[in-house]
Amino acid sequence: MNKRTFLKQMAALSITALPGMEAFARLLHQGRALPPAALASEEEFWAEMRANFHLQSEYINLENGYYCLMPKPLLEEYLDQVRKINLEASYYLRNRMEIDRLVTRQTLAEATGVDRSELIVTRNTTESLDLVISGIKWQAGDEAIMARQDYGAMLHQFRLMEERHGIKRKIIDLPHHPQSDAELVALYEQQITDKTRLIMVCHLVNITGQVLPVRQICDMAHRHGVAVMVDGAHSFAHLNFKIPDLGCDYFGTSLHKWLSAPLGSGLLWVKKDKIPGLTPLFAEREMPANDILRLNHMGTIPIHAHLAIPRALEWHQAIGSARKLERLRYLKRYWTEALQDHPNIEIYTPWEEQRYGAIANVGIKGYEPANMAQELLEDYGIWTVAIDMEGLKGCRITPHLYTTTQELDQLVAALLLMAKA
Ligand SMILES: Cc1ncc(COP(=O)(O)O)c(C=O)c1O
Repeated sequence: MNKRTFLKQMAALSITALPGMEAFARLLHQGRALPPAALASEEEFWAEMRANFHLQSEYINLENGYYCLMPKPLLEEYLDQVRKINLEASYYLRNRMEIDRLVTRQTLAEATGVDRSELIVTRNTTESLDLVISGIKWQAGDEAIMARQDYGAMLHQFRLMEERHGIKRKIIDLPHHPQSDAELVALYEQQITDKTRLIMVCHLVNITGQVLPVRQICDMAHRHGVAVMVDGAHSFAHLNFKIPDLGCDYFGTSLHKWLSAPLGSGLLWVKKDKIPGLTPLFAEREMPANDILRLNHMGTIPIHAHLAIPRALEWHQAIGSARKLERLRYLKRYWTEALQDHPNIEIYTPWEEQRYGAIANVGIKGYEPANMAQELLEDYGIWTVAIDMEGLKGCRITPHLYTTTQELDQLVAALLLMAKA
């Protein structure tokens, strides 16, 4: 490893130094004049922010929960990386790739407040969390606690462990409108027995937008000697935190969600003392048990996606976590509060500020979610996603930094018309 090259690569990272970014730098400079909460409703500022994105005009995109498209400068940088690697081919892969991977890991480690030796870049949250779920050396009878509102693929991975190793899954039901953090912590705690080995907690529940009190859940679990794995698919680069703030043992996220990194990028963080306890999915070669790279062998990887991650972090940090979160929460409040008292409309997302981010879920009495989503798209040009499960029948609405309040006015008008019908 060439340390000088590594340090040079690290020093070269500055999004506002990219060609054509003078206007963005000026905009951010203006933004810093106001505290984040005041900036959240400065529509002129956010209209200029919107100009940084390529947007189609066919529909209003309120389904940013699946994938957050890349802003223009990141997209251009990414395309340059694709071209560069296509040109240099195996010469790049053999000579330069490892330094670049290290730079990406280091920038992610710094941004998340952890040590690089505990972090790997993966393709997504699924890969990160499934590496943990299937990597633990389960014994028959071991128990794992999770919630019905957790992501389906992770719930099914635990089911696979049940079939393969005879573990027991204990599934709690999260209330849409909890009374307190203590109520949520108690739901997990009541399921703990002397067989419990792991709790999975979703930091920001994708189907309702509810933010869970992860720190309190982790502290409670650790008092019982139980480890906690956090599904951070929607929380990273959305909520304002560093991984150590959560007090968890494992954390996985997708960088193509709120960080706006290219599709197919994610991270896994594993607390140092937990690394030796995980068995890799794919074997590479003999490596020390405490080396997290043991878990990271996936064969030849789409390295250009990894190369765009440091720039995506720069972009995110230039805006600032607090400013981003305040704006996203403002947008959530903007449309949900307009519908709050309607007798035919149900908002499945909490109202207390610490319990939500950008995402909320809305249902209309008498509407099947699929029909609601279809009508929103076909009759009103609004793209959302239907969520249909017991006790939750609505559409998930996910604005992003480029969403305007006029677009949300259109959403509110459409929902009011539909709720009257
Ligand atoms: C809560 C949650 N966990 C995990 C995932 C899986 O993410 P990915 O498909 O990027 O692996 C998602 C995807 O939307 C999610 O919302």
